[in-house]
Amino acid sequence: MLSGKHVLLIIGGGIAAFKSLDLIRRLREQGAKVTPVMTGAAQEFVTPLSVSALSGEKVFRDLFDLTDEAEMGHIELSRAADLIVVAPATADLMAKMATGLANDLGSTLLLATDKRVLIAPAMNVRMWEHAATQRNIATLSGDGILFVGPGNGEMACGEYGPGRMAEVPEIVAAINAALADGPMAGRHVIVTSGPTHEPIDPVRYIANRSSGAQGAAIARALSALGADVSFITGPASVPPPAGVRVIRVETAQEMQAAVEAALPADAFVGAAAVADWRIETPHTSKMKKTAKSAVPSLSFAENPDILAQVAGMAKGRPRLVVGFAAETDDVVAHATAKRSRKGCDWIVANDVSPSTGIMGGAENEVVLITQEGAESWPKMAKAEVASRLATRIAEALA
Ligand code: CTP
Repeated sequence: MLSGKHVLLIIGGGIAAFKSLDLIRRLREQGAKVTPVMTGAAQEFVTPLSVSALSGEKVFRDLFDLTDEAEMGHIELSRAADLIVVAPATADLMAKMATGLANDLGSTLLLATDKRVLIAPAMNVRMWEHAATQRNIATLSGDGILFVGPGNGEMACGEYGPGRMAEVPEIVAAINAALADGPMAGRHVIVTSGPTHEPIDPVRYIANRSSGAQGAAIARALSALGADVSFITGPASVPPPAGVRVIRVETAQEMQAAVEAALPADAFVGAAAVADWRIETPHTSKMKKTAKSAVPSLSFAENPDILAQVAGMAKGRPRLVVGFAAETDDVVAHATAKRSRKGCDWIVANDVSPSTGIMGGAENEVVLITQEGAESWPKMAKAEVASRLATRIAEALA
């Protein structure tokens, strides 16, 4: 529920703008106050009158509207809300945000705000996939902008693929997560997830079978308890959850740098399957097979152990450091040894022998190793493991 919450909704100019009308209704049903802002193009798709009627509020449209400035300046407008939501976030608006342009009311509010910003991108699939948009997405994620969607689907333009704005219930859920007053409100948690890819040459890499499902579920569960989550993910096969700050990386070294940049944090959860080794010197051009060439030999270098580094921080160590142990035999003994070797507070251990079906599957059976000993949890859905773990983390930080 969102009673007492104030959302500043910036409506961008795309065909998906019509969904913003339903979004306003659903947010108000949950008790939120919605202050609408429309870009010039948005007014071509839905009328300010409809937006004002549904929100029960004045629609802000113009940066140079002196009446508005006299009543409430744009700086104040950008900070009065608890959360800024941009839906639909067009390619143009995202490009403005990524470069810091402020040439209309919406972009100026986004530059001036000190509040969290959640965007629901919506655009044609080619525009979404364009290198420029992809660069902007990376920049915005790095700036801490929260994303919900886009989804895959049929578009108004007749094409199919990613770019379709998230459905309204999904946006409402992401808003709830971003505004949650749960036991983790005000706490920052870093979650690493997914595999890492270690390049051999520009086209080949070494990877592992982690899907990123458990890490994504943990990030989602922590966010649902109100945590501010930095989700640092390798190339996973499941999408990141909505409402968390997503930082995408490929290699262990990139993951380490992203973790360092995201610190400080109240808790660190290392759910990523980080490659222990990388190729010492990846080839800068593609390795060629020639008639005379022998089978290549690869020489490896050890990757930084991110978990051990965070756990061993002399200054600014997160209060709770949680690691994972994927074992195939003697799970408790190996995981208990790993806990002390890495210096972390807890280890979530599981048996990943192929016969268990855990790696890549929907269920997990874990043992939680703490200072007090080993605690076996029954087999349950990864989402349930995540919510139990999130609750335990909240208790530990209370
Ligand atoms: N981890 C990490 N950085 C690495 C390797 C692992 O942060 N370079 C983290 C993982 O995210 C996980 C935990 O350490 O939380 C367990 O990793 P694992 O690879 O199982 O540990 P190892 O030390 O490699 O132990 P083993 O060789 O026995 O598997």
